[in-house]
Amino acid sequence: MNVLHDLGEARRWLDEERRRGHRLGFVPTMGSLHDGHRSLLRRAAATSDVSVASIFVNPLQFGPDEDLDSYPRSLETDLAMARDERIDGVIVPSTEAMYPEPMKTLVRVEQLSTGLESLSRPTHFDGVTTVVAKLFNLVGPCSAFFGEKDYQQLAQIRRMVSDLSFPVEVIGCPTVREPDGLALSSRNAYLDGPQRAAATVLSRALTAGIEMIAGGESSPAAVEQVMAATVRHEPLAELDYAAVRDPATLDELDTIADRVRLLIAARIDTTRLIDNADGRHSLGEYSDET
Ligand code: PAF
Repeated sequence: MNVLHDLGEARRWLDEERRRGHRLGFVPTMGSLHDGHRSLLRRAAATSDVSVASIFVNPLQFGPDEDLDSYPRSLETDLAMARDERIDGVIVPSTEAMYPEPMKTLVRVEQLSTGLESLSRPTHFDGVTTVVAKLFNLVGPCSAFFGEKDYQQLAQIRRMVSDLSFPVEVIGCPTVREPDGLALSSRNAYLDGPQRAAATVLSRALTAGIEMIAGGESSPAAVEQVMAATVRHEPLAELDYAAVRDPATLDELDTIADRVRLLIAARIDTTRLIDNADGRHSLGEYSDET
């Protein structure tokens, strides 16, 4: 497996692979890889001639009070997982290589929706779309794999790719969960025992919403209230939002008709967690809505 710290070297390698007619599969990550990432790596390796991942903790997508410095980093075990999954190359750029100068150019997808992540993390998605645009320019035409766990991020990236005509096929992959329902996230590493137990409240709230919809509830507000009440019953959790949205646009819905996405964010002590689900399927059942 190639481990490339130099962006020029990475570009030359990938250009050469494409020249040979090879189709590239790309998995951008911030490292601290877990089984959710493993599923993306596995899919990229299985469906591409050449698979490549990137590991870069992107300062641009962290707010001033967020966890950039403490964000978990585990390069050696990350590389071992990539090797295990038969990834052909991992790009590990330095911050100086990615941002040699303070950025004057940002890629912003104008508000796809109100509220959700943008409310508490107003600059986050500009940082995500900007770094993903840079990475797409580096890697070139490819299929790129993202987890549905970051559903709003996935929607923003799809929109950016469409608006700016990136020669990239974006593939959303289902969220991977612990047996008790907790969605895998690098930030789960911050949780101690009682917090880890409390964190299942996000998936429990999604399940409560899904069950209401299955029972015929068509009012988004009623479903949101039940999801919110589930979180409020958990003493260690503080709700950020519980939302019922259109899966493609993330717009608010007047009524729950066919396709519907449930999204939730809550703080477990100081750790902010997000989760989401297709409102028409129980958790863990595969859906492909975006
Ligand atoms: O989802 C992530 O890990 C990051 O937001 C991404 C897409 C790698 C951009 O830094």
